[in-house]
Amino acid sequence: MTALPAARHSVVKGWGGYLPADIVSNDALAKRVDTSDEWIASRTGIRQRHIAAENERTSDLATEAAKKALAQAGLKAEDLDMIVVATTTPDHTFPATATQVQAKLGNTTGFAFDVQAVCTGFVYALSVADNFIKSGQVKTALVIGAETFTRILDWQDRTTCVLFGDGAGAVILQAEEGAPDKAKPGVLSTHLHSDGRFKDALFVSGGAGSNGQVGVVRMNGQEVFRHAVQKLADVVEEALAANGLTGKDIDWLVPHQANQRIIDGMAKKLGLPGERVVSTVARHANTSAASIPLALAEAASDGRIKPGQLVLLEAIGGGLTWGASVIRW
Ligand code: UT7
Repeated sequence: MTALPAARHSVVKGWGGYLPADIVSNDALAKRVDTSDEWIASRTGIRQRHIAAENERTSDLATEAAKKALAQAGLKAEDLDMIVVATTTPDHTFPATATQVQAKLGNTTGFAFDVQAVCTGFVYALSVADNFIKSGQVKTALVIGAETFTRILDWQDRTTCVLFGDGAGAVILQAEEGAPDKAKPGVLSTHLHSDGRFKDALFVSGGAGSNGQVGVVRMNGQEVFRHAVQKLADVVEEALAANGLTGKDIDWLVPHQANQRIIDGMAKKLGLPGERVVSTVARHANTSAASIPLALAEAASDGRIKPGQLVLLEAIGGGLTWGASVIRW
């Protein structure tokens, strides 16, 4: 009788974030666009965003975050079996930005590819890496969310251009023996959803395979807001139920950072006070796939998220796509 493959789970070994140096406040933006700090802050919580320098590519931001995550984990680039980059703003239509990160880090033995799920991208990439690890194909994975999102904004459209920023965040996952166990550190579960019928709520007006252009972001904010409130509540409930948990068991909610009102609504549903929610939206704005790993890196580095604590991630984005994950840190 052939033995069944041994069960494995993924453990977070390192994390890192990178934000471009240039910070643009709401007031500075209001000099270029018909808007105000009061409107942006009261509707979204955003006060400023970081914008990549002209010569900075998404792969540069991703590589900086990755280097910090490797250092934190005490690992070298050659230890990586797999690099997944979640991005909507790749350096090129092809090759995958992940392959450029691989080259910049100096890894030649692993494999690298991109995942495209817009603002849900990091949760998707985490899920992909976690499943490669569980299957036994990969021991060490680098999972990155990285965006130069401000490059696909229409700076004449005040309903979208005030909302986004640039940045990158990374985590390192490593295989450990045994199935996921909610009493022990590791990724306990990931939950992914999409519904392409809602494409028109949030999309980019171009593409290599349609009009051959890059395009700019178009969003029906109110429609996305309505979907966010419902779909995030559903997927969070699904993630908690899958692990036999309730909102009260969660130490940290680390949500996608699009709007403080959506974040507060989710925290309230879970019965979590504001002190147990990691919020970076005021300083980072919406960095799409980078928002969750940037928030994770910040809160783990400053000692808020401690080893052994339960962390809940959730996100929604273009597609529509949405998802959640529960991690014992
Ligand atoms: O990351 C992917 C997920 N994305 C999201 O989760 C975004 C979800 N949606 C939202 O966060 C909100 O819908 C927004 C922040 C995008 C918009 O807030 P809102 O409260 O839904 O505003 P609205 O779209 O209903 O616009 C209200 C008014 C409009 O004026 P009228 O028609 O009432 O006269 C807009 O023209 O605010 C006006 N407006 C602005 N005014 C000043 C829209 N953008 C601006 C602006 N500055 N930047």
